Formats: sequence, structure tokens, C-alpha cells
Amino acid sequence: MTRQMKAAVYRQYGPPGVVAIQDWPRPVCGPNDVLVRVRASSVTSADRRIRSLSMPYGFGAAGRLAFGISVPRQPILGSELTGEVVEVGAAVRKFTVGDAVVAFTGAKLGAHAEYCRVCADAVIVHKPPTLSQETAAALAFGGTTALDFFRRGGLRAGDRVLINGASGTVGSAMVQLAAQAGAEVTAVCSGANAEVVRQLGAARVVDYTRVDFAAGGKQYDIIADTVGNAPYPRVRAVLAARGRLLQVLATLPQMLHAPWVNISSRHRVVAGPTAERVDDLQTLVDMAVDGRFTPLIDSRFLFEEIVAAHARVETGRKRGSVLIAHAS
Ligand SMILES: NC(=O)c1ccc[n+]([C@@H]2O[C@H](COP(=O)([O-])OP(=O)(O)OC[C@H]3O[C@@H](n4cnc5c(N)ncnc54)[C@H](OP(=O)(O)O)[C@@H]3O)[C@@H](O)[C@H]2O)c1
Repeated sequence: MTRQMKAAVYRQYGPPGVVAIQDWPRPVCGPNDVLVRVRASSVTSADRRIRSLSMPYGFGAAGRLAFGISVPRQPILGSELTGEVVEVGAAVRKFTVGDAVVAFTGAKLGAHAEYCRVCADAVIVHKPPTLSQETAAALAFGGTTALDFFRRGGLRAGDRVLINGASGTVGSAMVQLAAQAGAEVTAVCSGANAEVVRQLGAARVVDYTRVDFAAGGKQYDIIADTVGNAPYPRVRAVLAARGRLLQVLATLPQMLHAPWVNISSRHRVVAGPTAERVDDLQTLVDMAVDGRFTPLIDSRFLFEEIVAAHARVETGRKRGSVLIAHAS
């Protein structure tokens, strides 16, 4: 008989209300998998995009191909989680039943449920006992995106780095990780979030409701755009020679234009999906344990309140991550 679990399921694309908690078959653990009893997860901006199928301009068809043409192929959202291992596949050596873990399922999703199956060779690591469940559940989405874009953009100590959208999940991780790497960080956010991003390590804050950073005279070695309103034509004048524009959010025409910028100018544009790497998750766990990285938390919801959590993400105004506490 199929074992059941509670899961937050959506069967059609749409607003937060398409998600409902219901009984769902518990995933079956394959030989290379572990089954994790989920204790905490988050609702991310990616969950919002996939749930509502609102992809960046030009990616609508690709989104349907990836996530399901007319209805969602994977009806359970959620990509970052913490919990404990309750089953291990026959070939798994790295984990045993009872291990506390942190995992990032990425595009496979599935974290908004009582149980989540994760390949033991994918992005999953042990959770040290000193790491809180809240921190563990909010590390991966923003943190791995920040690490991957900074690696591709060649972040170096001393770089002048501007983060557009510094109070979001990705932006707040970027502020902290750039400051940790020895960069001089300028954060672009609304005035209400200025103090928060200063505490995360920003040396300077630009309130986008009053000042256009791209119209100023200050030059930057790296500009990271997590909002999608800082394309190359807008920022080229404030990119230093050999400066890099990291387009965390890019439209299809912008992505196609990037190689042309890279061969025809002294600037470089980096765009595309984040690589999902287990060593990045381990780095973030290590940094969180010794206090070098603390994901910013916007709000907390119980699993039963997950529709309200989706509604909070839908506003586009969250300040860091929206956490979900699953039953203990
Ligand atoms: N390339 C990839 O693989 C990848 C990976 C992860 C995420 N992403 C994309 O990156 C984007 C950001 O993700 P996220 O999770 O960080 O989003 P998020 O947490 O939802 O971002 C919300 C934040 O954006 C700020 N914001 C809104 N408009 C702004 C503006 N005009 N200027 C500056 N800040 C503004 C808001 O601050 P205020 O309320 O103060 O305005 C809020 O704090 C999403 O579109 C996501 O799809 C891409």
C-alpha cells in the first residue's frame, strides 16, 4: 500500500490560492536516495515564478517546457530544506538514518511536504548541531546564487561592488558574501531597508526611490542586478574598465546580447541559471556556523499557513527569506 504524507500541492499555474495542503503519496527512496523528514523550508521567489509561470521576458515557452506545458509536472514546490534522514537507499554510504541534513533540491523542488526525496550525491550536506533550523532552511537559495555569480564574475578583495535589490534573499546574501570577501559594497534598496543592509556589511546605501545609482559619477568593478532593471545600456557608464555586470535576473534578449558585450567592450556580462553545487552549500553551512553568513529572515509561517507565505512572497517586497516551520 502506498504510504501517504501531507504536502502543499498545486495542480494548476496561478496565484497563491492554487496551493492547498492535502494527502499525497510519500516519495519512494531509490538506491542512491535519502528520504528526509522535512522540519523547515522556505517559499522563494523561484517558487512564485514557477507557481504563477511568470518567467522573465522571452522565457515563457522554456518555462512551460521545464515545469509542465499546461499543468505543473512537479506539483510540490520548495527547493531548500532541513530535516532528518528517515530512510537511506541501499547504495548510500554518506548518510545514515537519523542524520540531520541541509539540502537544496533546486529545479527538482519537492520541499513543501512532510517528506522529500533527495539524491545522496546531489546538493545535500550534514547539518551541524549548532546550526539553527531557521538558518539551515534559508541558506541555500540566496547563498548559492551569490557564490555562483561572484565566482563567474571573478569577485576579488578590494572590488567596488554594487548590489541592486540588496534587501531581497539573493541581494542580502550578496551583500554579506561580497563584504566577507573584502569588497567595498554599495547596496541599492529602499530607505526602509537601509539600516538592515548596512548591518549586513554595506559600506554605502543608495535609496533607489530618491537616487539613480546609474546616473552618478561613482564607478563599480561589479554590478549585480537582482531586480532586472539594470541592463547593460543603463549601467555601462558606471562600470569601471574590465567591470562585470552580473544579471541574476535577465530577459532572453539580454542573455543573447551578453556575448556581444563580452567581445565588443572592456566589460563582461554574466547571466544564466545558477549552478547547483554541493561544495557551495557546504561553504555556506561552514560560514553560518562561525557567524560569517547569517541569512536574512523576512517572516515565519507554519506549514499549515503556506498559502499566506506564498502571498507574502507575491508582494515582491520581502526582506530576505520567508520561512516555513514544518511539524516537529
Ligand atoms: N539566475 C538565477 O539562477 C537566479 C537564482 C535565484 C534568483 N533569481 C532571480 O533573482 C531575482 C531576485 O530574487 P530574490 O529571491 O532575491 O527576490 P526577493 O527576495 O523577492 O526580492 C525582494 C526585494 O526586492 C527589492 N526591490 C524591489 N524593487 C526594487 C528596486 N526597484 N530596486 C531595488 N530593490 C528592489 C525589495 O525591496 P523594497 O521593498 O525595499 O523595494 C525586496 O526587498 C528573482 O527575480 C529571481 O527569479 C535568479
